[in-house]
Amino acid sequence: MHQVKLADNIYYLGYNDRRTHLFENIWPIPNGVSYNSYLIDDEKVALVDTVERAFIDDYLEDIDAILEGRPVDYLVINHMEPDHSGALRAIVMKYPNITLVGNKKTFGFVEAFYMKPVNTLEVNDNSVLELGKTKLQFQTIPMVHWPETMVSYEETNKILFSGDAFGSFGTLDGGVFDDEINLEFYENDIMRYFTNIVGKYCPHTQRAIKKLAPLDIKMIGATHGPIWRTNLDWVLSRYNKWSTYTTDPGVVVVYGSMYGNTQKMAEVIARQLSVRGIKDIRVYDASKTHKSYIINDIFRYKGFIVGSCAYNNAMFPNVENLITTVQHMGVRDHLLGVFGSFAWNGGGVKNLMKFADSCGWEMVADPVEEKGALKAEKYQKCIELANAMADKILAE
Ligand code: FEO
Repeated sequence: MHQVKLADNIYYLGYNDRRTHLFENIWPIPNGVSYNSYLIDDEKVALVDTVERAFIDDYLEDIDAILEGRPVDYLVINHMEPDHSGALRAIVMKYPNITLVGNKKTFGFVEAFYMKPVNTLEVNDNSVLELGKTKLQFQTIPMVHWPETMVSYEETNKILFSGDAFGSFGTLDGGVFDDEINLEFYENDIMRYFTNIVGKYCPHTQRAIKKLAPLDIKMIGATHGPIWRTNLDWVLSRYNKWSTYTTDPGVVVVYGSMYGNTQKMAEVIARQLSVRGIKDIRVYDASKTHKSYIINDIFRYKGFIVGSCAYNNAMFPNVENLITTVQHMGVRDHLLGVFGSFAWNGGGVKNLMKFADSCGWEMVADPVEEKGALKAEKYQKCIELANAMADKILAE
């Protein structure tokens, strides 16, 4: 296969997954995903992370092709989630004298997922591993994405091996480096990877960005998506924006509706938002659009107006699923509106209001709830809800 190098002695070992439908068995990946590992060939040989287990055979073969029989001395484990540690056992079996490099939280995961590790090297912040002319410095970045997560900084070429940080959904279709691809094509998948996978950990991401700021970084090799060597500011500025909950002036309107009554309220609200001059309005039926995409737009836009019919005295299940995920992710600093409909004793709006009371977002107006089909009085309330949201958005 083509050998892709980041530097004279540093190789990209990445694999494109176009078969998996759901990443983590939750998140749709219609454009696939890549799993990126890196090999440093010096007096000592080190791998930085491995790959998903479906690619073990190709991975071992490609390592052999580079090393021509020499062993791998170190496996640096930046992150233990199985999409990157999937080949760990195979690597240890093939190179039994290998030393696993991790921090104090890493090896417990190795034992829990695979085996009791034999040869280990525990590193901490600022520890340096010398491989010959290559030196790897380590920095922990806990919860970006798991507690053990760390990055490795290669000092000669100033390459940051960043784990999930700065990663992306989407396979690498020929182009591997950021300047070989059209970033516009990847932008949504880069954001969706961040919001879906790392979005719960925005404060941790901010801490990591600040911690890594003193490093002189010329290249970033993440565990998914393109290698960044030309447009580092492009991705860094976006990560900074997303992880500070900085939003654009738009509104996401989501509804759950069985017979169209709650949907009609959503249409009225969306139209009035437009009349008031809001240009970015995204209306989603929670039964049709996967929450992956809706959450991405909730991160993107300041306003969120959510509606639910009642269902068995509760929220409509697909709205409830979305709201539960938004709560788990702890999304902050949004404007909120609530609406819905019911047939006898309600449940949709009542339970949405529990979310409203707990999320810490600003409610722009009282909730609007209709019995059955939308009628004149509640139509007007929907207009007022949209106006209140538009007033806040336009005043920002
Ligand atoms: Fe790509 Fe958290 O693993």
